[in-house]
Amino acid sequence: KKKIGIMTSGGDSPGMSAAVRAVVRTAIYRGCEAYAIYDGYNGLVQGKSGIKKMEWQDVRGWLSEGGTLIGTARNAEFRERSGRLKAAKNLIDNGIDALIICGGDGSLTGADLFRSEWPGLLEELIATGQVTEEACKDKETLTIAGLVGSIDNDMAETDVTIGAYSSLARICQMVDYIDTTAQSHARAFVIEVMGRHCGWLALMSGLATNADFIFIPERPVPHGEDWSKEMRETVLRHRRKGKRKTVIIVAEGAIDDDLQPVTATMVQKVLSDDLKLDCRITTLGHVQRGGPPCAYDRMLATLQGYDAVDAVLSASPDVPSPVISIRENKICRTPLMEAVALTKSVATAIKKKDFDTAVSLRNSDFQD
Ligand code: F6P
Repeated sequence: KKKIGIMTSGGDSPGMSAAVRAVVRTAIYRGCEAYAIYDGYNGLVQGKSGIKKMEWQDVRGWLSEGGTLIGTARNAEFRERSGRLKAAKNLIDNGIDALIICGGDGSLTGADLFRSEWPGLLEELIATGQVTEEACKDKETLTIAGLVGSIDNDMAETDVTIGAYSSLARICQMVDYIDTTAQSHARAFVIEVMGRHCGWLALMSGLATNADFIFIPERPVPHGEDWSKEMRETVLRHRRKGKRKTVIIVAEGAIDDDLQPVTATMVQKVLSDDLKLDCRITTLGHVQRGGPPCAYDRMLATLQGYDAVDAVLSASPDVPSPVISIRENKICRTPLMEAVALTKSVATAIKKKDFDTAVSLRNSDFQD
C-alpha cells in the first residue's frame, strides 16, 4: 500500500483543514494509507511523535474548521541539510512514499529542495547505518505535490490560493462594521489589511466595500511631497458629493514608487492634519486569517486535495513536483518551481521599480 503524508506549513489559512480532510479521504478511497505530519516541518524532523496514521473518521467535521487541525510552524532545522536528513529518516522509518504539502511559496520551495536532494539523503542515511537498504527499496524517488494555502493570494500560476476568499469575506464584513460607525460620526478610517507584499486582499476588499482609496504595493503612489495628492483630491471630491464617511484601505506592504513604506499612520496624518477629518486607524490583524473557511475555500480545498492525491499516484518525471492550481475555474497542475520562480519575479520587478511588470505577473484580477 502506498503511504501518503500530508502536512500544512507556514502561516495557516482557512481551508487547510478541509484540504487535509480531502487528502486523507481520497488517499484511503484510492487504497492508500494516509499520514498526518503535525506542525509542519517540525513533525517531519521530529518523527514518530509528529507523524500519525489517519483514518476516515479522524477528519470528520474538518471541512468547515478554521486554521489547520494538524498544526503548522515555521521550522528553522529543516532549512539545514542536517534537518532534512532527519526528515528523510523519519519518512523511511514510517514507510512514507509521497508527501503533499499545503502552504505558501516558502514551504513549497523547501519541499522541492527536499525532493531534489532525495536520493543523496538516502545514500547518506544508508552509508551511516541510520536506515537499511531494504527499508529504502522502491523509494528511490520522493513524490511530492503542493497545495497553495495562503490568505495572501500571492502565488503565481493560480488564480486563487486556499484561504484568500475567506479572508476577503472577513475583511469586507469588518469594513462593513466600521462603515456604520464612520457614517454616524462622519469620520475617516484607515484600515490596514494583511497580504504581506501582495495587494490582492487590499484591492479586492476595497472594491467590494467601495473604499475611497486603496494603497497596494504593485501600483505605488509617487515618492515625496506628492504621494497623498490623489488620495486627498479623491476624498474631498467624495465629501463634496455629500459622503459622510471616508474609508481608506492600506495593504500592509504598501509602498511609494521609491519603495518606501506607506503606512496607515502616514495616511491618518494627512487626513487629520491636511483635510481636518476626525480619523481613526483600524489594523484588522489575525481576524483576517482565523475562523471558518467560506464555501469557496471548502470547495477549492476539496477539489485540490483530491487532485493532489491523484497527482502523486500518477506522478511522472516530466512534472516532478506539481503544484495544484486553479485557472479559469479549472483545477490544473503546474511544475512547482515554475510557479515559485514566477512568484519571486513579482518581488524582483517591484525591487527594480518595474511596476507594470509586477502587475502583469500577478494573477488576472490585478490587470487593468
Ligand atoms: O502570509 C500570511 C500572513 O497572514 C500575511 O498576510 C502576514 O503578513 C503574515 O502572515 C503574518 O504573520 P504572523 O502570523 O507570523 O504574524
